[in-house]
Order: sequence, then structure tokens, then C-alpha cells
Amino acid sequence: MKVFISRNIPDTTAAKLMEEGLEVITAERGKSWTSKELIRACQQVDFLLHRGSAVLDANFFQHCGHLKGIALTSVGYNHVDIRAATKAGIPVSNTPDVLSEATADIAFLLMLAVSRKAFFRANQIARGEWKGMSFTQDLGVELYGKTLGIFGLGRIGLALARKAKAVYKMEVIYHNRNRNNKAEQELDAVYVSFDELSEKSDVISVHTDLSPETAERFNAETFKKMKKSAIFINTARGGIHNEFDLTNALMNGDIWGAGLDVTNPEPMLPSNPLLNMSNVCVLPHIGSATVETRAKMALMAANNLVAAKNGKKMPQIVNI
Ligand code: DGY
Repeated sequence: MKVFISRNIPDTTAAKLMEEGLEVITAERGKSWTSKELIRACQQVDFLLHRGSAVLDANFFQHCGHLKGIALTSVGYNHVDIRAATKAGIPVSNTPDVLSEATADIAFLLMLAVSRKAFFRANQIARGEWKGMSFTQDLGVELYGKTLGIFGLGRIGLALARKAKAVYKMEVIYHNRNRNNKAEQELDAVYVSFDELSEKSDVISVHTDLSPETAERFNAETFKKMKKSAIFINTARGGIHNEFDLTNALMNGDIWGAGLDVTNPEPMLPSNPLLNMSNVCVLPHIGSATVETRAKMALMAANNLVAAKNGKKMPQIVNI
């Protein structure tokens, strides 16, 4: 049986798949796929190990109904038409848990970087604009003891809440589909409505998936409800905030700052005004980008494929 790997994974993981008797076909390094190319590449294989933004839509599943399993190397699967996969009888797996700490680290990094205008201040040096220390200009704000509002208190949100509580004694409030008893007991986290989350948080950090329910949930109306001193952090999916409204909110002073590891579209255009704002820090979707985490994600995906090949249920299956 053959597996097509659409993005490079560690050699050790590919070797594991081969040891399990799978023939591995690997894409050329760094290639980004159009839907058509991906369909063509999948014609001769039984499994797909997929990473990246190439969308697996209904058309893909119409042409690739022969696949016996798709293992994603991401926790998010908004780029996959899960209903179409299920209709075609194809199991799909993701990589939860293993990237929670690394992604929460990036949210934490952004919180700090925005609060101290770190990227902007570093760029002042690079551009030769820093003329020496000023006692009053370009000051940041502190996080200690402030209120952290988490939108989507799952594994990543919980990891961030723990760090914020431990290091900065932040009060944690959250809004979620369901109450999170573990977080309420462990961190004294308080469940609030979405409006309360918007109104009371000093920092709002987004950790939910992108769905019709969450798409553009952070829009002009939401930003208006937030404190003028609030910082907005998104390490989940760019589609959860409206970028135009966010830019306006920052320009009008409706909120104080923003830190984004995800944008809409990705990559963000270099001409985007957000990149030149003093209270904004933008990163290129590096939430899970550590050697350790990527190795764990690749291995988890490989284990899912091996299970499917052996006729077993994929341990991290998201459908069927
Ligand atoms: C994911 O896995 O969904 C994260 O965005 C990292 O790529």
C-alpha cells in the first residue's frame, strides 16, 4: 500500500511508515499544492498524510474516494470538508494535545510582545530610528494581575491560562460552548457570556476552531465592546477575526493592541497596515513550529495511518 506525503516530515517518521510496510511517496520540498495537483498526486496511493493550506473540498473527495485514510498534521481541520470525507467513507485524523504547550507559548509571547510594543521597538533600532531612551514615549503596559479572557477554553486555552496564572497571577475568565470544570477548579476560571468576555478582559486570547459559529466573531461590534486598553490575541485561525474591522479598531483606539499568529489570508501582504502599527505584532503561523512539537505531530499522524492500514480505528479520528 502507498502513502503520499504532501509536505516534508522528519525522516524518522517516514522510515516508521516504511517499516510498517507502506511505500512512501514524498512531495518535493516546500511545494504548495493546488487542489488539482493534489488530486492527481493521490490517484495512485491508498493514504494521504497531509499538511498545509491546500483545501480538501467536496471536489477532492469526489475524485479521491478510493483513499483509505487521511492523516492531517494539524489540530485544525477547517480546510477539510469533513462531511464529504465521511460520505466517501474516508477516515480523517488530526493531531490534538501534542501542540498545546507550543501554541500557548506563542500566545503568551504575543501577549508580552504587544504589551511592551516589542516588535515595533526592535524595528526602531533596525531602521536607525532609535535615538536613545525616552522616559515617556512609546511606553508599554503590564500584564500582572490583569484579566485574561479566553475564547475557547480547550487544551490550548487551558495551557495559556495556566501560564498566565502562574507567571502573572492573571484572573482568568472564559467563554466556551461548554463549561470547563477542570479549569474552574484548578484556576478559579470564571465562565462568562461572550459580551462579558469582550467587556471585562484586559487581554482576549482566541483558542477556538474556525466554524460558521466562530467566523468573524471578532468584528467591529465586538471590538467596540472591548476596553480601550484591551489587547486582542489570535493564534487559532485568521478567519475568526475580521481583519478590516481589527485594523479600524486599532486605528480608532477602540482597543489598545493586537498580536496575531494567524491572518486572513496567509501569508499577510507586506503592504498590510497592521505590520507598521506600534501596538501590533504579527507572526507567520508558528504556533506549533518547534522541533519537538513537529516531531510529535508527524509521529501521531503516522500512527494514525498505520492504524488505518491495519484495519483499525485511527486513534485521533475526527469523523466516522
Ligand atoms: C494546527 O495544527 O492547526 C495549528 O494551526 C498549527 O499548524
